[in-house]
Amino acid sequence: MSKQLNIGFHLMRVDENSLQDSLRLSNRLYPWSLRENEANILYSLVKNNNLTSGFEIATGFGVSSISIGKAFKETGGRLSSMDAYVEELLGYGLYDHTTHKIKTGTPDGYLMATSMSKALEIDKHTNFDIGWSPNDTSLILDKNEQDFLDFVFIDGGHYPQQVILDLSSVIDKLAYDCIICFHDYGCVGQDSLNLLSKYRFTKFIDYKTGFSLVSYGRGHVNIEI
Ligand SMILES: C[S@@+](CC[C@H](N)C(=O)[O-])C[C@H]1O[C@@H](n2cnc3c(N)ncnc32)[C@H](O)[C@@H]1O
Repeated sequence: MSKQLNIGFHLMRVDENSLQDSLRLSNRLYPWSLRENEANILYSLVKNNNLTSGFEIATGFGVSSISIGKAFKETGGRLSSMDAYVEELLGYGLYDHTTHKIKTGTPDGYLMATSMSKALEIDKHTNFDIGWSPNDTSLILDKNEQDFLDFVFIDGGHYPQQVILDLSSVIDKLAYDCIICFHDYGCVGQDSLNLLSKYRFTKFIDYKTGFSLVSYGRGHVNIEI
């Protein structure tokens, strides 16, 4: 489908010999997406729990957002997805929370995510915004009129100092019945684990996917797949 969008680039496997691997844009080495089995898990979590208000850091070029958005179409919910497009800007994935660089204009990842969302008719259920987490998070959620969240997916900067900033920026906006997912669990540091425990996220599952996708749950949610 991404070739039919006619936007000058398309989705391709990072490793062309592996049907299971992450995707990237054909004109960019970074960022990389979730794998298909991981995207399916996000879809099921939202749909099975009938969740309605989601937030994602970060869009990349929309693979995770599309899965979550498809589920929200079924539950009548909505996703806010944000990205600074810092990996697209730098051309690599090595940076940290002090980098604070935002690609302005229309980043390729933004164009791909919004085009796919429109083509799949989930654009009423997805908002894509450009911003740096955590600085712009509240502004974006306020703009999108999302004053509570019952689903959060954290897959932005992959180091503990960023993950705690991402998590702290949303922790007070969460409904009691809520799921938080992290990709690349190895980047979730002790500060984040302590915060999750303080806020009573006692349910936990590691889905044992290639890059380690995990969920934390609180209240009446089922995080088993
Ligand atoms: C692994 S990619 C996201 C992939 C996407 N979730 C998917 O599966 O399709 C990580 C993204 O985080 C973004 N990012 C990193 N640090 C960020 C920050 N502080 N604020 C916003 N976006 C950030 C990068 O620009 C990059 O696009």
